[in-house]
Amino acid sequence: MDVFEAVQTRRSIRAYQERAVEKEKLVKVLEAGRLSPSAANQQPWHFIAVTDKAARERLFTAYNRRWFVDAPAIIVACALPEKSWSRQDGEEYWKVDVAIALQSMVLVARELGLGTCWIGAFNEEKVKEALGIPQKVRVVALTPLGYPAEQKGPVADRKPLEEIVHYDRW
Ligand SMILES: Cc1cc2nc3c(=O)[nH]c(=O)nc-3n(C[C@H](O)[C@H](O)[C@H](O)COP(=O)(O)O)c2cc1C
Repeated sequence: MDVFEAVQTRRSIRAYQERAVEKEKLVKVLEAGRLSPSAANQQPWHFIAVTDKAARERLFTAYNRRWFVDAPAIIVACALPEKSWSRQDGEEYWKVDVAIALQSMVLVARELGLGTCWIGAFNEEKVKEALGIPQKVRVVALTPLGYPAEQKGPVADRKPLEEIVHYDRW
């Protein structure tokens, strides 16, 4: 599968098989995050791979969906803002950096036959409580990771290029 095909066929998967994710696949997904680019190469990220059932169950308080905690693995993508590169006007890039890393993981997961679903609507304090994450760390996003128990076609519901692309100026 080439990168474009992974982009075209990646979908949000909200039903997972119980089957565990093989260790080497999990590590390859995490490696895709590690290899991702970040502003000034600051790599202001930490990733928590949650496979322990009790720990996944605790995350139910942070994102109240059965399909989410029933996935065999959950990746929690975190940032250390103090490590982030900032623009001169003060704009911090940790959210961008961590989002790039998580999307790399999502695409490699797709290549490996694994499903994911970006989760942004979580309670950050509850995630921190559930996993012992220090206060200075920010949780950017989560994704379940596992073999899909639902089949979805390629991405279709997107705005056409003509509506969103500008050439040379807005
Ligand atoms: C930053 C971000 C946050 C999201 N948060 C959630 C979420 O909390 N719960 C959920 O079910 N889906 C969430 N999604 C998934 C989107 O709803 C989904 O990507 C979008 O509807 C397009 O569908 P597709 O991923 O199947 O192509 C999120 C996606 C992104 C990129």
